[in-house]
Amino acid sequence: MCGIVGYIGNKSAVPILIDGLKRLEYRGYDSAGLAILENGSIMIEKTKGKVQELQELVEESSFSGTAGIAHTRWATHGEPNRKNAHPHLDCNSDIAIVHNGIIENYVALKKYLEDKGHVFKSDTDTEVIAHLIEDDYNGSLFETLAISLAKVEGTYGLAVISKKEPDKIFAARKGSPLIIGKGKKANYIASDVAAILRYTNEIIYLEDGEVAELTCEDISVKSEDNIHVRKKIQQISWSLAMIEKDGFEHFMLKEIHEQKTSLLNTLRGRLNYEEGTARLDGLIKYIEYLKKAQRIILTACGTSWHSALIGEYLIEELAGIPVEVEYASEFRYRSPIINQDDIVFVISQSGETADTLGALHETKRKGGIVLGICNVVGSTIARENNAGVYIHAGPEIGVASTKAFTSQVLVLTMIALMLGRMRNLPLERGREVVKALREIPDLVGEVLKKDEEIKKIADLLAGHNNALYLGRGYNFPVALEGALKLKEISYVHAEGYPAAEMKHGPIALIDTKMPVIVIATKDAIYEKIMSNIAEIKARQGIIVSIITRGDTKIKELSDNYFEVPSTPNFISPIINTIPLQLLAYYVAVKRGCHVDQPRNLAKSVTVE
Ligand code: M6R
Repeated sequence: MCGIVGYIGNKSAVPILIDGLKRLEYRGYDSAGLAILENGSIMIEKTKGKVQELQELVEESSFSGTAGIAHTRWATHGEPNRKNAHPHLDCNSDIAIVHNGIIENYVALKKYLEDKGHVFKSDTDTEVIAHLIEDDYNGSLFETLAISLAKVEGTYGLAVISKKEPDKIFAARKGSPLIIGKGKKANYIASDVAAILRYTNEIIYLEDGEVAELTCEDISVKSEDNIHVRKKIQQISWSLAMIEKDGFEHFMLKEIHEQKTSLLNTLRGRLNYEEGTARLDGLIKYIEYLKKAQRIILTACGTSWHSALIGEYLIEELAGIPVEVEYASEFRYRSPIINQDDIVFVISQSGETADTLGALHETKRKGGIVLGICNVVGSTIARENNAGVYIHAGPEIGVASTKAFTSQVLVLTMIALMLGRMRNLPLERGREVVKALREIPDLVGEVLKKDEEIKKIADLLAGHNNALYLGRGYNFPVALEGALKLKEISYVHAEGYPAAEMKHGPIALIDTKMPVIVIATKDAIYEKIMSNIAEIKARQGIIVSIITRGDTKIKELSDNYFEVPSTPNFISPIINTIPLQLLAYYVAVKRGCHVDQPRNLAKSVTVE
């Protein structure tokens, strides 16, 4: 989704802004632009295309100003074209603004401003803010921003410059992520730490309602109530290398291959064999609530929602607590019942997903306890929950979530184990689980070594425009996740089903052209899934199976197969997901798709 970068310092702003935008490209966008304070004027360049095109445009213009703001836009209001690309200006081109979020009352504000003579040039909601500031300006943009933004309903993360105050840049935030980076004789604004990590790892997180004024030397922040706030500077532990491709063709492939390490990081220091349990420090404050929880609600979107479905199986099996899984977007709007003894977990890689944040707010509004499972440290969900667990998967840049998913599932397994051990799970069983969890990184490593085998299967599937994914038990959500990965990055229509559901409808789709990917590793319902495969075979469907190493029965029924090591069933979702991620990746590459930035998708979906 949209990205923001701002810079003020003693170097030319353009290369810094362009570099920042390039690092935000992964978020998904359809146009880009920047504004530079240049010899007392504001200079603008915009394009409907890629940041590379913007770079070519600004190189021609040879701007040398040392302060500016830049943006990648993912269209909401107004089609993606040059006119609607940010930055937007007021009537006199005194003020330039870039904005993430949605101004909900922009129609009323636009009418009010037009009646006063303001002339609008774009179809965006954002432009009203530039005119509102122009209208309210009292000689101090720092003060005016607060006055103008008080009239705005909706969400914003924004950066502003004004030719009347050329030694400053400004930022404000409400409901859309925005951070400030503190550099040496330079300061930065960004919607995502990746944009400025090259220059600083000293970060200030703006809270909702805060407005900031940045000069080369200083950063001043005021709260919504117009009171100066002393902000804490936090050190980010992510390195630049972590957000680069490191020789891989795509971030997605790099991130798939990082899973041995990312899973190790997720586990690090959290398992206790002696006591047969997991220790999750982030939840300690809520241990008493967790001990007596009567019901757990897991809520999330997309891939994170699939991890929640696996979480349901895990918690019910290991801890015996009833679990409900909800799409965050539905949960927030359907008057959910949250009892005193319920615990709500919100799961989000980015920690910025608007729907998931909405579910968090709804839970809090109802007086419930909300615990987070996030990857991005300092993200909004991570800061607004009552307590939480970081998955420590490291930065995930590819739009298709891969390593975050397996780490989410691993954290949910540890939560299930911890809850189980606080209840009736016997010590010996707890120890078995700990032992199995410790083996995961090596098992994942084994699967990743066979990447070439998946590539061959992908070559065979790449010409098909549909696919079914089937699994049962723990592997039903894996089937959903496999199908989502294929859809997202290769634009092949794919559906995931519980294997036994196939005969209730989808079986009508099976013919000689329908590939069916079956997750059929050995577990208690292995024989049942074999019958489901036989049903596909009888109708000449193309069977690709994920099987336990050495399984000859399903191998014989399959057109293609991929062997994974034998694991306990509660570990199998993590292991079985890896070949499906690789399959989606190689099909997408073979079809010539833009793997890291699939069409219409954004890395963090910060609008409803
Ligand atoms: O950052 P989140 O985990 O909250 O994101 C939720 C979904 O938007 C996300 O998982 C999406 O489905 C991905 N594109 C999946 O690959």
